[in-house]
Amino acid sequence: MSANVTPPLDTLEQDAARALPALLERSYARYSNFTVAAAVIDDEGRAHYGVNVENAAYPSGTCAEQTAIGAMITAGGSRRIAKVLIAAGSDAVVQPCGACRQRIAEFADEACEILSVQGGEVTTRTPFWGLLPQSFGPRDLD
Ligand code: THU
Repeated sequence: MSANVTPPLDTLEQDAARALPALLERSYARYSNFTVAAAVIDDEGRAHYGVNVENAAYPSGTCAEQTAIGAMITAGGSRRIAKVLIAAGSDAVVQPCGACRQRIAEFADEACEILSVQGGEVTTRTPFWGLLPQSFGPRDLD
């Protein structure tokens, strides 16, 4: 057995969940005070993180998922999303907003899951494609 085996996705998932509470501190949620941190785990087992970044011109703010997807694309690699973990400073269960569902759909693999994180632990698990059925995506432009 190789020493370079990628850890199983559930180990990566737990590590990412535990990293999110500290990341909430870096969120820039000056206007809503609603801090959000997200992790995108790609199908190669790499985790990419993001927080929401608000703006005085309100619509110019970005969601945590959007920031995490940008980090994944910037890192290079497969660009296939296996899991998205989301934590809110309120500790509420948060599902991705409509615009972020579309952003996730661009890169989500067939088994992609959305995981809510509360107190550094995964508390809910939702199949992504159930959140955006009959979607418009890259294949429509082929
Ligand atoms: N927000 C996210 O970052 N992700 C979500 O899934 C829901 C909402 C952010 C956007 C805004 O900065 C704040 O939460 C309140 O809507």
